Amino acid sequence: MKFALLSASVFPALACESSLLGKSDTYGLPWYGLKTNGVAIGWVPSDGNASEGVISPRYTLAEINQKLGSVSSTYGMYSHLNSDTYNGYELLEEYGEVIKSGAVFIPSVMPVLDSGFPGITPEVASQVATVMREFTDKGVIVWLRFGHEMNWYTNPAAEPRYYGTPAEFVIAWANVAKAVADNPLVKMFWSPNNLGGNPASDLDEWYPGDDIVDLVGIDCYPQFTNQTFEWCYQDFYDRFSAGKQKPFAIGETGADAELKENWLKQLVNQNNADYPNYISMSWFEYLKQGVDFRVVVGNQTILEQTKETLGLSH
Ligand SMILES: *[C@@H]1O[C@H](CO)[C@@H](O)[C@H](O)[C@H]1NC(C)=O
Ligand SMILES: *[C@@H]1O[C@H](CO)[C@@H](O)[C@H](O)[C@H]1NC(C)=O
Ligand SMILES: *[C@@H]1O[C@H](CO)[C@@H](O)[C@H](O)[C@H]1NC(C)=O
Repeated sequence: MKFALLSASVFPALACESSLLGKSDTYGLPWYGLKTNGVAIGWVPSDGNASEGVISPRYTLAEINQKLGSVSSTYGMYSHLNSDTYNGYELLEEYGEVIKSGAVFIPSVMPVLDSGFPGITPEVASQVATVMREFTDKGVIVWLRFGHEMNWYTNPAAEPRYYGTPAEFVIAWANVAKAVADNPLVKMFWSPNNLGGNPASDLDEWYPGDDIVDLVGIDCYPQFTNQTFEWCYQDFYDRFSAGKQKPFAIGETGADAELKENWLKQLVNQNNADYPNYISMSWFEYLKQGVDFRVVVGNQTILEQTKETLGLSH
């Protein structure tokens, strides 16, 4: 079994909680959720916010589930922490949807505040924990993807952007991890960006530490056919998942109209023996900056292809 190696040691508290809830495996992934070849499948549905030009309308996970005729395993969403009073309104606007979905909730809480990572004080971190508690109080399992793509969003070209050094990021992360430590339904999900294939060793300075990271993953959006699953993930997987015995989850990924179906096939057709810690992936279901990433809500043709790839055709 693919999960046997990690389950007991990495998520002991969760394993216990989830047997109480009776609805999930040791990572909190719902037993009734969509899985293809052992990989739990979910989505980051478009939030309808036009940041740079045209963007797809807003979708809920329920709409995606309805089109697929399936229950998605993860529900990703972005949230902007832009001042020293965080209330998570973007997440709470979808509160009912998230609870109803039964999926693992993956909020990407983005520290875009002017004071940068040093602004994530223990007080601000406890506000983040309070918002997460609203979800976990309803039995939702949360993989908190705090400061995702920190190695990209600190680039001056990023919009919005994060401010601060790797050392400051690690302190900010530690504050958040400490604030949620008394909540066994929240797991800390570390997720940098592969920045066009840079070596994973470049990420060491951004890694918060084995004791305060529960899951790892890396964001990668292939742009050419030679940017394969191995190209995107292998080096990172070896160093931070296999090397540290952490579950590997893909927090977001996608590809353009030409590449996307092949990319989706790669995501769900890896040999389990090569990536035994690979537990889930969430697709970026957006039309953004002129790129049509959508594989479900785009049109009927792409939807049928996607259902076939995911083993949902009858
Ligand atoms: C995104 O759009 C929704 C409405 O679809 C709005 O309620 C929300 O506040 C917006 N978020 C941001 C960050 O602008
Ligand atoms: C991948 O393909 C692109 C476009 O054809 C090319 O520019 C690039 O050099 C290739 N990269 C590798 C590593 O072969
Ligand atoms: C459906 O979407 C795919 C992928 O985005 C695109 O290549 C195709 O042209 C679309 N088909 C129609 C009929 O719009």
